[in-house]
Amino acid sequence: MSHEPYSFQLPEQASTLAPEVDWLYDFIYWFSLISFVLIVGLMVFFIFRYRRRPGVKAAPTGHNTALELAWTFAPLILLVMVFHWGFRGYVYALVVPDNAIEIRVRAEQWKWEFEYPNGRRENGVLVVPINRPVRLVMSSKDVIHSFFVPSFRVKKDAVPGMYTTLWFQATKLGEFDVFCTEYCGTSHSGMLAKIRVVGPEEEWPPRPRPNPGESPADWGRRMFAQNNCNTCHSLDGSRIAGPSFKGLWGRQETLVNGQTVEVDANYVRESILQPQAKVVAGYSNVVMPTFAGALNDEQIDAMIEFIKTVR
Ligand code: CUA
Repeated sequence: MSHEPYSFQLPEQASTLAPEVDWLYDFIYWFSLISFVLIVGLMVFFIFRYRRRPGVKAAPTGHNTALELAWTFAPLILLVMVFHWGFRGYVYALVVPDNAIEIRVRAEQWKWEFEYPNGRRENGVLVVPINRPVRLVMSSKDVIHSFFVPSFRVKKDAVPGMYTTLWFQATKLGEFDVFCTEYCGTSHSGMLAKIRVVGPEEEWPPRPRPNPGESPADWGRRMFAQNNCNTCHSLDGSRIAGPSFKGLWGRQETLVNGQTVEVDANYVRESILQPQAKVVAGYSNVVMPTFAGALNDEQIDAMIEFIKTVR
């Protein structure tokens, strides 16, 4: 599916709000550009046309009521127009339609968790039906994050201790980028997600399953990226916030309490569901979020198969 940008400056329009925003943006942009060229052009022209010349005396310009009224009312009318269109778009973005689907969004360093009306949760990917209003109720577990979908022209902060809401109605099928647009720590730039807009023929809310022909290990690799595990666990042995997955399977780990464990299926499973149960020595300063509720048994099995392959 091709995603054509709307213009040189703006990404494609994929929500009902996008044309509203872009229209006003274009109007202000082109008006400013034309005014700039006109004003600067006339200035340069007048500088040459009325430059000082020997034998020519400057004449006083005096007062011109019609001209002064014109340059007072022209900007005023323009400002009222811009305010009117801006306010209309603002109200449109603010008032959520009654029939909107409600989805919970939980921001956390450094991932986005989405919860569907049936209670199912997923990290990193939000699936929504096309041409239906969707209301996001957002919160943050730690610091301020900001949910930004450029193609939908929507952006709202997720703030700890309060709920914020945002709504959109997608008008195009396909995948759209979600960015965190509030600096929130080391891996802020990796705090990404996707919104997948699906047609009425697809099951919604979606059930997690491997892609056709995908092996469990490949599915695990995909979930590793989708759940932003990569923001804390490297695959090449380098140390980030958490232990690297390279050579993890079968390794003897020393825990903060001095005990040792072998990394096997039960250890991996426990670490995904109750990350604080057995913390590896040297990593007691970071708190991994639990993935209980976010990953089901089948998905955890696939994660285990993936970890086995990271040699
Ligand atoms: Cu979350 Cu930046």
